[in-house]
Amino acid sequence: MDTGTRIEQTLDAAIAAAHLQNCPPLLAQAMRHAVFPGGARIRPRLTLAVARACGDPEPAMANAAAAAIEFLHCASLVHDDLPCFDDAAMRRGKASVHKAYGEPLAVLAGDALIVLAFETLAEAAIRQPQNLATLVRVVSAAVGSRGGIVAGQAWESEATIDCALYHQAKTGALFAGATMAGAAAAGAAHRDWRGLGEKLGEAFQVADDIRDVAATPQELGKPCGQDAAHLRPNYASAHGLGPAIAHLDALVLEAIAAIPACPGRQELGMLIGLTAKSFLPESLQRRAA
Ligand code: IPE
Ligand code: IPE
Ligand code: MG
Ligand code: MG
Repeated sequence: MDTGTRIEQTLDAAIAAAHLQNCPPLLAQAMRHAVFPGGARIRPRLTLAVARACGDPEPAMANAAAAAIEFLHCASLVHDDLPCFDDAAMRRGKASVHKAYGEPLAVLAGDALIVLAFETLAEAAIRQPQNLATLVRVVSAAVGSRGGIVAGQAWESEATIDCALYHQAKTGALFAGATMAGAAAAGAAHRDWRGLGEKLGEAFQVADDIRDVAATPQELGKPCGQDAAHLRPNYASAHGLGPAIAHLDALVLEAIAAIPACPGRQELGMLIGLTAKSFLPESLQRRAA
């Protein structure tokens, strides 16, 4: 089965199970709206790619880890779009969840997806319990108050922000969680995979900054110019588009160099090079060439 199908089927089965009993219909719809159709699914693809590079001995656990990472990502987007955060009306080319279902259901759909992420790990672990504790620790760290997404979003409420720390928590932590979860699901030494995730997350953040200043809402399916509107640091506006693209390319090479020794190292390096190309929409790739 190809990677995309593995991801969509696992997400779909977990959501269907979450709606089987006593789930209010509008909450169920709001959760589906947040997850389907997806964006690029970059993080769960990364989880499965790392699991594969480590031999993928426990595919069901790798699928669950990938789905958990994507559920947490989707939840973070639902909450991020709320009026109390970025107040964004559009996400993935359609109405954001609070625009479609109202704020209370958007808050609750995000909450439910966070719970579902950990439930999905636990369900898969009934058959393969040996790596569950490590997976829960790795995934929690990626999203929690100690340098995870919650911390990243909370920096926006502080009077002064350390830009590197902010980006590392907001974006880098979930990428590191994605690579380490892939390794942990395969029973490999997960800490060795932090560097790849962190570098790739840093690259992705620079790409996001470039897209925010130079792409169109049509290309992105979400509003542009958000960093300037919210007075947030942006690498491309601080250093210029050309230097930002050069920095992005350098970070991707550093990420590939950080892949630890494993059976699928070469194949993974090629895959990451290809994936990183899709970080920028086509119009910007042409400018980069
Ligand atoms: C958007 O992430 C949020 C950031 C961390 C910048 P993606 O660009 O991966 O969003 P989707 O999942 O493809 O919509
Ligand atoms: C959203 O970050 C990613 C989260 C960690 C919640 P941004 O607010 O910078 O990204 P977009 O532009 O809404 O996707
Ligand atoms: Mg935001
Ligand atoms: Mg936002």
